[in-house]
Amino acid sequence: MEFPTYRARRLRKNEKLRAMVRETALSANDLIYPLFVGPGKNSARPVPSMPGVAQLSVDRAVQECEEAGSLGIPAVILFGIPERKDGQGSEAYADDGVVQRAIQEIKRKIPELLVMTDVCLCEYTDHGHCGVVKDGDVDNDATIELLVKEALSHARAGADVVAPSDMMDGRVGAIRKALDQDGFEQVAIMAYAAKYASGFYAPFRDAAESTPQFGDRRSYQMDPANADEALREVELDIREGADIVMVKPAMAYLDIVYRVKQKFGYPVAAYNVSGEYSMIKAAGKNGWIDERRIMWEVLTAIKRAGADMILTYFAKNVARELHAR
Ligand code: PBG
Repeated sequence: MEFPTYRARRLRKNEKLRAMVRETALSANDLIYPLFVGPGKNSARPVPSMPGVAQLSVDRAVQECEEAGSLGIPAVILFGIPERKDGQGSEAYADDGVVQRAIQEIKRKIPELLVMTDVCLCEYTDHGHCGVVKDGDVDNDATIELLVKEALSHARAGADVVAPSDMMDGRVGAIRKALDQDGFEQVAIMAYAAKYASGFYAPFRDAAESTPQFGDRRSYQMDPANADEALREVELDIREGADIVMVKPAMAYLDIVYRVKQKFGYPVAAYNVSGEYSMIKAAGKNGWIDERRIMWEVLTAIKRAGADMILTYFAKNVARELHAR
């Protein structure tokens, strides 16, 4: 088809036509809402670098889940900010830890809401690294043991999906094996499979108080320059038993989202991370961009690239608008 027979503008004439030929539509079912759960009661401590996001006590997190559920959001992912941090991140696998208590409360009050949990140590260690530090670096195999304990304690509390975000080698297989041995063969694993060492996590580290106290995460998270390696990472995680594979961050990594979806045809999650959120918020606040419009554009693009689900701090905003339609 050629011009003038073909005129692409014919189908862009008005919103009705545009809506009919639109290829990608976000749905509330695509959304996973991240929540930061901390100590205290009836407390919501705003995160300065993430307008609209707060560290919530367990009771307030439950309230937030009730609201999310009523807006049609199917899933939340929980991050814990413990009262006390130490070298081994012991609160990560304490059965009375903040995340474990939150899971139990949410499942008691809103059983149909899917509860996913971030399985990592960086929010729980005093040094801020994602594992056990030995000789100035994170020890892979020693860390796996603790991640397994953490995943099991989340499963015992009632988590539907555990999501290891540490990027240790072999952790998905170890977690799958331990879950199966303990009778949690129905608990799914969403692996942060291709997680890059990204500057876009800065506001999250503010929220989770998890900035590394020395060095950085480049010895375990991926080099942003690599794409083939991401496919290897995803393949390994699938072989080890991942049910859902994640690419993170999202916006600057849509080629990875696309390639992972094309190559494996597995359920793909993309994490629209804190920095992506905060940049939109900041520019919106300055009147430099239209926050609402950019939110829709970015999230639709992530889905267009191949993501089946999106972890986003905008989840409630999107769901509210979809609900009102
Ligand atoms: C690690 C973890 C991080 C994020 C999710 N899980 C931070 C990191 O690796 O430093 C980042 C999420 C975001 O930026 O929104 N447990």
